[in-house]
Amino acid sequence: MHLFTDNRSIREYLSSWLAKGKTAGLVPTMGALHRGHLSLVNRALSENKVVVVSIFVNPTQFNDPDDFRRYPCNPEQDISILRKIMREEDAVFHPPAKEIYPEPDTRTFDFGGLDRFMEGAYRPGHFNGVAQVVTRLFEILKPTRAYFGEKDFQQLAIIRHITENLNIPIKIVACPIVREPDGLAMSSRNVLLTSEERQTAASISRTLFSARDMRQKASLPKVKQWVTERLNELPGMEVEYFEIVDDRTLAPLSQWQKNKGMVGCIAVKLGKVRLIDNIRFS
Ligand code: PAF
Repeated sequence: MHLFTDNRSIREYLSSWLAKGKTAGLVPTMGALHRGHLSLVNRALSENKVVVVSIFVNPTQFNDPDDFRRYPCNPEQDISILRKIMREEDAVFHPPAKEIYPEPDTRTFDFGGLDRFMEGAYRPGHFNGVAQVVTRLFEILKPTRAYFGEKDFQQLAIIRHITENLNIPIKIVACPIVREPDGLAMSSRNVLLTSEERQTAASISRTLFSARDMRQKASLPKVKQWVTERLNELPGMEVEYFEIVDDRTLAPLSQWQKNKGMVGCIAVKLGKVRLIDNIRFS
């Protein structure tokens, strides 16, 4: 496995593969790798001749400076985890900020309304920062495919949207949420939870699973209210939002829909840690 820290070397390396007609898969990450990331890497390994995992904690997507400061960061450990599963020809790209942003990035993106609710409403500027870094990585690496997790459901929709809108010839591959044995969605932020908070956190997915089962018996507003009240009763937990949305427009729904995909998306604060999760209702 190769390690690159500058744009030019990784670009040269990857273009030599692409010139031979080989496929390249990109797994963008902010490090603090867990089994969720590794499932993306394994999928990329199975579908491409060469795979690049980028490790870059992108400052422009943090709307809260404390969240940026606290974000777990251990690139040496990440690289050694990747060495165990990646092949000789695969690569890690771990650039300093000046490689990604040689100049301050002032671009603003249009997400066609997909950012109006949920993360877009609660984390102003977050998706613009995500779009900045993802399009920079696409521009530098020009992979055939790029892999993203469904845990960040709104992020995935937004990345699909900009890729199509900007005619970027990269296939976006969505990978399912990976959960801990007790159901908690894997997240780099889970390591920031205290052991008590970690136990409480298992209730998020449990409540979502029960909510899905209530669908036949209760109205959508009742299910929303039940989820919010139940989680808000738990020590240290505060629901920021729970919305059941149309899976294409991401607009919040007020009643169950027959022929539409519906996804329940949640964000909670547990102590100082912010966690998100989602579940399909159809
Ligand atoms: O999902 C993430 O880890 C980040 O938002 C991403 C896509 C790597 C961009 O920094």
